[in-house]
Amino acid sequence: MQRNPVGKLLLFGATGDLAQRMLLPSLYNLHADKLLPEGLTITGTARADHDDEGFRAFAKEALDEFLPRDRKDAAAIDGFLKRLQFQSLDATDIDHYNVLAEKVGDISGGLAIFLSTAPSLFEQVIQGLDSAGLAGETVRIGLEKPLGYDLASSREINDTVATAFPEERIFRIDHYLGKETVQNIMALRFGNSFFEPVWNAQGIDNVQITVSETVGLEDRASYYDGAGALRDMVANHILQLVALIAMEPPARYDVTEIRDEKAKVFRSLRQLKPEEVPQNSVIGQYTGGAVKGEIVKGYDEELGRDSNTETFVALKAHVDNWRWQGVPFYLRTGKRMPTRRSEIAIQFKPVPHSMFSGRGGLLQPNMLIIRLQPEEYIQLLVMAKEPGLDREGIRLREVPLNLSLDAEFAGTRRRIAYERLLLDLIEGDQTLFVRRDEVEAQWTWIDAIREGWKANDMKPKHYSAGTWGPAASIALTERDGVSWQDD
Ligand code: BG6
Repeated sequence: MQRNPVGKLLLFGATGDLAQRMLLPSLYNLHADKLLPEGLTITGTARADHDDEGFRAFAKEALDEFLPRDRKDAAAIDGFLKRLQFQSLDATDIDHYNVLAEKVGDISGGLAIFLSTAPSLFEQVIQGLDSAGLAGETVRIGLEKPLGYDLASSREINDTVATAFPEERIFRIDHYLGKETVQNIMALRFGNSFFEPVWNAQGIDNVQITVSETVGLEDRASYYDGAGALRDMVANHILQLVALIAMEPPARYDVTEIRDEKAKVFRSLRQLKPEEVPQNSVIGQYTGGAVKGEIVKGYDEELGRDSNTETFVALKAHVDNWRWQGVPFYLRTGKRMPTRRSEIAIQFKPVPHSMFSGRGGLLQPNMLIIRLQPEEYIQLLVMAKEPGLDREGIRLREVPLNLSLDAEFAGTRRRIAYERLLLDLIEGDQTLFVRRDEVEAQWTWIDAIREGWKANDMKPKHYSAGTWGPAASIALTERDGVSWQDD
């Protein structure tokens, strides 16, 4: 890959939650590992009224709080803070962008902008950047979600950004693509020969993807209540996982090849007609309960009013192409579930004939489990004979063939997803960023589901916090004779 690092970074939302928890610690880690270009300055901007010193103190506090102890190195922190400066900005005032541009300084050596802003401000921000000369040829822009709430609004945002930046300089972030284990799906599929021959409708019975979280609303009521689980998690992260599992082998590890193959998957998603939606989706909202032994409030109570926003969604999806014809992809995600887990479970077809059935041996279909977080492992469930003399019949049992990535790569620090993405943004590699046609195909599919909910007046069913969602989500798979992988 050709690296083309910029000399400056401009961070919008620099005093926000994402900056404190993820962006500043990630940038510090890159600095401490000497991966940032020498001399790269980082200008933070936000509405807050900091001067440079105030922002450095703010950043120091964020590092204190969110860096693990073994990463804290006083000299490295000092060096990192020296890269920082701050310009307070009223994003709605076009004249302020000139002040910002002055603060950023000479951008002939390249500028990368990281923009996370409310969708309602996009137009003003892009115009402001453009008018102040912060959108020229040497500038690339990273965009954090939410980038719209449906196809129409996402097109509007994309059109707005396109007035100032061509697609090759737009980096749409889906932080799941920055996760090591998510990238590992490609290594597993395309770096090994034995999966590919069975990686299709002949070999695979169904695919399940679960992203469960134990957290509730956190402090994001105004965003989350307008989004809900489908748009917050499925429209981006879970669909990206579907694409990595379902895509055809790209010819090269290359920005165009990989994104072309993912886009084809999104375009192949079977679009549901409104009348098909109730049979293929379940929505839920948590009520009070206990998560990991702690009593927690219900969603409405946390929010302070009644709401019909779903905090859980389960879907049965299909990728309508030759490889995946007839293979259901069961997808589910929810807040306030019993455990935090992101996992892909691939259930293979049963053997065509069991020679053991006359001797009492029962077989389970093989299953490949890819655990993305919190642990990182790959497990292949295979049948084995229980030791014994078999006088009472042959006993067969499913046993796991375990590959613990945590253990295999124990000496290698797992980086925050944003470390990878920020470095790629700084160096100009778009491979792990989402292209406009991907986003639009994702929204097209999501919008049809939401239209079905509306047409059928579907409201979320309640589930107690600390459970795996409404009972109907179990029925969604059991109808097909499939059980969610809930160990
Ligand atoms: C974000 C969602 O994109 O992803 C959050 O907005 C969610 O609601 C988060 O909690 C999950 O990310 P991770 O990396 O913790 O799985």
